[in-house]
Amino acid sequence: MPPKLKPHHSPALLAALTAAGAALALAGGAAWRDWPPAAFWHLVFAVGAMPMVFAAMTYFTPVLTRTPEAPRSLVAMSLVALLAALGIVGWFVRGSEALRLLSPWLGLATTLAFLQWIARRWRACLGRPHACLRWYAAALACLGLGLTAVGLSAIVPAWAGPLRAFHLHINTLGFLGLTAIGTLQVLLPTVLGQPDPAAARRLARDLPWSAGGALAVAAGAGAWWPLAAIGALAYAWPLGRLLVDALRAFGPRLWQARQASPLLVAAMAGLMLVVFHGLLHGVGIGNARNALPLFLIGFLLPLVSGAVAQLLPVWLRPGAQAAWQKSQRWRLAALARFRAAVLFVGGLLAATGIEFALVFGILGALWLLVAMLDTAHRARPDPRLPTGER
Ligand code: HEM
Repeated sequence: MPPKLKPHHSPALLAALTAAGAALALAGGAAWRDWPPAAFWHLVFAVGAMPMVFAAMTYFTPVLTRTPEAPRSLVAMSLVALLAALGIVGWFVRGSEALRLLSPWLGLATTLAFLQWIARRWRACLGRPHACLRWYAAALACLGLGLTAVGLSAIVPAWAGPLRAFHLHINTLGFLGLTAIGTLQVLLPTVLGQPDPAAARRLARDLPWSAGGALAVAAGAGAWWPLAAIGALAYAWPLGRLLVDALRAFGPRLWQARQASPLLVAAMAGLMLVVFHGLLHGVGIGNARNALPLFLIGFLLPLVSGAVAQLLPVWLRPGAQAAWQKSQRWRLAALARFRAAVLFVGGLLAATGIEFALVFGILGALWLLVAMLDTAHRARPDPRLPTGER
């Protein structure tokens, strides 16, 4: 049975959502101002997505371990992660050597501190925690390894090529990918209000394949491509099965209007596309430069759009405000099927290097930003109502 998502108020989430919104806006500006591509990618992945993942884990870990809600002081971790991310963007834009040397280790220290908090909650859990928690721990371990790699590459420049390849593959497929695959299996049944009996078994069984696959891709990408190809196949296998299982278990309910599920399915399909694109690129077909736009448009945008549609109302107004939350979910999931299709097609176009894909990505990102701001605005207490009813 998926755990019921209890409302936990988390300032970490709000801070991260603000950072994500700002990062989305800034990333638009960065592309406009001709900043180096690495600055753009870190605005999206490190400033935008990384603290958001920390914040989402801050929210889900107490639910998965059936322990009290996270202390408010934990917001500091998302903020330090954000600082490290801003530091590296500063290096890409301004070239300050101190930022290049410090940011990876600052990011690593935060990741380890966060992992330790998760481990403490794990031990405090009566009985076994939900299997999704192991995916979070593995995802954070991937982030830690990826940050170590770029920390080392500043010290051992001769290894910079393979270390950079390791960093970017382990962070995208490992850190973001494992977080997404774990969360989706809890989120999808929650969105549809229907338990998925196979999810617990899949979560328990598939982690070695997904995590081992991501590690093999990352280690092989810059060093020995057959290892990367084996890793990609190991990673694709449970992901493909998850997609097929979801289609089978939920059927046409997945495509009902005004709910987040089409976006979440599009994200899974987009991640599959990323792996397939990587395999093709490994055998000399396709261009590696298209992989990041594909990852962003085909996977990350539908994933965040779907997750935000389901979770933002609870994060903004925790507690027993079911009617308000439901009405906001309904708004946030407006045109979900159409948006899922646009982002999936955008991902396909990006994979083939067609620049028009960017238009699809920009439309998806703008929609997300406006919807988030609109919901945040509506969550403010209405001053015309008596205090108890705001
Ligand atoms: C505090 C966090 C982070 C730091 C300090 C950091 C640092 C770096 C550095 C120094 C490089 C350049 C390596 C080189 O060229 O030798 C790099 C490249 C890269 N990183 Fe990160 N990174 C962080 C987080 C992330 C995250 C979370 C992701 C993705 C999920 C990511 C994805 C990438 C990608 C895709 C590249 C290659 C970009 C390009 O060459 O255009 N990074 N990172």
